[in-house]
Amino acid sequence: MSKITIGLFGFGVVGEGLCNVLAKVQMKEAVVKKICIRDGRKPRSLPRELFTDRPGDILDDPSINLVVELIDDAEAAYHVVRRALENGVPVVSGNKKMLAYHLEELIALQEARGVALLYDASACGSIPVIRNLEEYYDNDLLISVKGILNGSSNFILSKIFNENMEYGEALRMAQELGFAESDPTFDVEGYDSLFKLVIITVHAFGTYVHPDDLLTFGISKLGADDIRYAREKGVRVKLVAQVVKLGPDKFTMFVLPQLITRDKYIYSVEDEFNGVVIKGECYGKQFMFGKGAGGYPTGSSVLSDITARLHDYRYEYKKRHGATRFSYTDDCSFRLYLRYAREEDLALFPFESITERYWSDNYKYVIGHVRLADLVKIKEEIARRDVFIAAAPLN
Ligand code: HSE
Repeated sequence: MSKITIGLFGFGVVGEGLCNVLAKVQMKEAVVKKICIRDGRKPRSLPRELFTDRPGDILDDPSINLVVELIDDAEAAYHVVRRALENGVPVVSGNKKMLAYHLEELIALQEARGVALLYDASACGSIPVIRNLEEYYDNDLLISVKGILNGSSNFILSKIFNENMEYGEALRMAQELGFAESDPTFDVEGYDSLFKLVIITVHAFGTYVHPDDLLTFGISKLGADDIRYAREKGVRVKLVAQVVKLGPDKFTMFVLPQLITRDKYIYSVEDEFNGVVIKGECYGKQFMFGKGAGGYPTGSSVLSDITARLHDYRYEYKKRHGATRFSYTDDCSFRLYLRYAREEDLALFPFESITERYWSDNYKYVIGHVRLADLVKIKEEIARRDVFIAAAPLN
């Protein structure tokens, strides 16, 4: 493709960020022809004639040869992306929720129509995780991908731990700075990290796992006692998404707060930054660090996908066609920190063994081994109870 004519959906933080990045690089080979927005009356920073509120002005325009989808609404995004791909028009998307729920079908559609869908901006903003997993880590040596994939929750945790800020105030700041989702529940309850993990896993191990089947627990119930406990032990609480190989053709994955010791790379990942640790046989650990949210960082990642289309790049999903077919398992156990208030809340958790226990009138916790499958079964109930859980260090 020598010249790209873009139809852009969405002009929020990332859509506007992309236009600013395009103006900065003064790229001649890619021009935005039309921008489809929901609210046509809102004042915009670009000439009025660029905007439309009719999707057909982009989807039915034969001169547009790349659709860039950066809208907030996952359902609307899905329809735009599907229609463009069905029409044979390549798409760049940043919508992690839409991708996490529809990637299996969208991969099939790409293969059936021979058309590309790129989405490096959907996971970790400016950090090129997806393309690296797809191209560089294309072998059997990969052991795990673990990291902080959500800037807002990490920003909130940093403000609480380093500046003693109240949770609500830190969340408001993350919203004002444009990191948080329009519904910040997605950030703080771990769903945003989970959606990114589902996408990453497709490129790490070649297998799609539906997000509803996975354990997710966020940071909204982190309390003053948990913070004091972490400080006393010299650890930090981070919201960690992880996919880990178990045996020759199995992996497990989940999103949980984790008590992180000082010797871990992600211990020092602060504020809205993301950090991803890729571990493999023969090469040990590699660490990728950078801005995972915000208009310019994410806009620059979208630009990278646009540039990739100039070279007709597409994901080949090589691991989906590889000799080893990996599948997800929750048949594994790990050490869990549980802070609870009532004995019936503790009884909900089927610990295999307990290694540490403390109780006073106001603060009670246990640390012990628990099976992931048992936690997955009770995940809705855990969300309803007055408890905080975190993966504990292995010692
Ligand atoms: N709300 C997301 C975050 C934006 O905080 O990381 C980037 O995906």
